[in-house]
Amino acid sequence: MIDDVIQIAKEAGSIIRNGFGTNFSVEFKTSETNLVTEIDKASEKLITEFIKKKYPSHGIIAEEGGETKNTSEFIWVVDPLDGTTNFAHGLPIFSVSIGVQKGGETVAGVVYDVMRDVVYSAELGGKAFANGKEIRVSKNANIKRSVLVTGFPYNISENPDHALEKFSALTVVSRAMRRLGSAAIDFCYVAQGIFDGFWEVYLNPWDMCAGKLIVEEAGGLVTDFSGNPTDIFTKKVLATNGLIHREMVKILLEN
Ligand code: IPD
Ligand code: CA
Ligand code: CA
Repeated sequence: MIDDVIQIAKEAGSIIRNGFGTNFSVEFKTSETNLVTEIDKASEKLITEFIKKKYPSHGIIAEEGGETKNTSEFIWVVDPLDGTTNFAHGLPIFSVSIGVQKGGETVAGVVYDVMRDVVYSAELGGKAFANGKEIRVSKNANIKRSVLVTGFPYNISENPDHALEKFSALTVVSRAMRRLGSAAIDFCYVAQGIFDGFWEVYLNPWDMCAGKLIVEEAGGLVTDFSGNPTDIFTKKVLATNGLIHREMVKILLEN
């Protein structure tokens, strides 16, 4: 199945790459900060039509189309374009994220980093890969030498869960803080040891399903802000190399 997931993620990525910089239509979703383009929709259509044809009994949770009920224990969790704001503004950082759950557990995850042409993939109980080469989280145990990343939800103007205080507190104790704009890529860069830690106060299942598995299979740890296990419906997520996790939990809880 992982080969199918990789293939369809790459095909969706081609639609996105071909659409980048063109005159695509943009609509607002919940607000003027929350965009969807015709390319998000075209990517989702390709992926969901593939699933319906090849795995007709499987369920689908996809960002732009809602839910398709299933009769099997498999559910595909799809973000057809993660990083829509970047895409719409011409910033080449965005991805396709597809996770497959079986009985509520993620068994396969693929994130396609479109403009870098890198496929991140993992299967439960296996290893994590970038273009087929094994990846591992960083070995850095010192938060002062860490490069961290976060993202903000579309209602950041309301500062949910003190996201801005947490951002300030972690910025001043780390080597550097980044905000890339694609949560799925943030997870993968933790898995690859580029970042040491990633947190966000409000993520949707499609933002994290694949990325969470990829971090875990690369030797990292993914929990809520208290350090407790998460499922893909947990909104607050902390993903690290494991070594700086306790320190980040402490700071996230204090701020
Ligand atoms: C968003 C991105 C962003 C994160 C937001 C997400 P979208 O997804 O992953 O990095 O900060 O919380 O909603 O809307 O571009 O698919
Ligand atoms: Ca997303
Ligand atoms: Ca999206």
